[in-house]
Amino acid sequence: MSSLVPHYIESLVPYKAGRSIDEIKSLYGLSEVYKLASNENPLGVSPLAQQAILETASKVHLYPDPQALKLREALAARFKLNLNNVAVGGGSEGIIADILRTFVSDADEIITSENTFIGFIVLAKSKGIPLKQAPMQSGYRFDLQAIAGLITERTKVIYLCNPNNPTGTIFTKREFDLFIKRVPERVIVLLDEAYFEFAEPNLDYPDSMSYRYDNVITLRTFSKGYGLAGLRVGYGFAHHQFIENLLKVKLPFEPNMIAQAAALAALGDTAFLSRTMANNRAGYTFFTDAFTLLGLRWTASHANFVMLEFDSETRVLAVSEYLLQHGVITRPLTSFGLPQCLRISIGLPHENETCVSLLKAYLAEEKFITQYVAL
Ligand SMILES: Cc1ncc(COP(=O)(O)O)c(C=O)c1O
Repeated sequence: MSSLVPHYIESLVPYKAGRSIDEIKSLYGLSEVYKLASNENPLGVSPLAQQAILETASKVHLYPDPQALKLREALAARFKLNLNNVAVGGGSEGIIADILRTFVSDADEIITSENTFIGFIVLAKSKGIPLKQAPMQSGYRFDLQAIAGLITERTKVIYLCNPNNPTGTIFTKREFDLFIKRVPERVIVLLDEAYFEFAEPNLDYPDSMSYRYDNVITLRTFSKGYGLAGLRVGYGFAHHQFIENLLKVKLPFEPNMIAQAAALAALGDTAFLSRTMANNRAGYTFFTDAFTLLGLRWTASHANFVMLEFDSETRVLAVSEYLLQHGVITRPLTSFGLPQCLRISIGLPHENETCVSLLKAYLAEEKFITQYVAL
């Protein structure tokens, strides 16, 4: 039987999502658990999106609009593009899968960085074609020059995640300007901006809307800033010929009807987005100040999470297990190639405070044990 499975699928390690609140509640007998593991929106769902979800519920015996016209028109208007430059799909991961199916064939290769979004790595590996990953530069930052140095005749797609998950770092306008000059027009540059809304205020951030070259595809999502992760809606911007061909391959009824309606409403809920950003800014300051006081090493982030660096994987696993047992789920980063790191999503103030108190208690306990063992 296994001879029927291609070797690159058999050896593929599937994407493992963060652990769920219900799983941890039942595992440790806890009544309250905070999930700071998957970079979701801690404010929940926009009230306008919730209303749209309820209103659409009575219509789901019908197929959704396969063109998702209302949503695509709203996105085109918001970002000043033509409708034929906009695609939507089942989460931005769904669109990544569509892009790989549409544009990548067996003779091609893909390039990205090490320590980037694992969802992309799994999808790329499932194509069974070469995937080259450039090491990061110091500070857990993409090394765009090293990535450009890997381009060959076979290169078809370069995937760049900005801000990067799981490090939270960005590459700057200057770095991207120098990079793009080295990329031939026949190579697609896939800019994953899932955390765009959080990074946008930074003047050094190269918002891909200023780089609408024919070979650049932008990918964004309603899962983070807009709080619709469970509904699976992503969107992309590209040259109209890319979009035309992508639409041939995409599953026709994605996103589903409720997802389309909720995303449209969420896009209009600017108050919810502003509250999300304000909560994130305050949580980031709270976390990073506290981490500094605790003597923890953290990487400056432009997204809705912060990455901590410890001196070993053992220590990361011990910290995350302690947090889990006390009701806070975080994300150890071994599967991202960073076994010494732990990613913590920014939550609501009381969730962040609980997390910091637990880290403090853990570090005190660890110190006590180390001193005791040393005696
Ligand atoms: C960088 C990045 N891209 C894409 C995704 C997937 O987003 P979606 O929920 O739209 O599939 C995530 C989710 O964590 C992400 O971190």
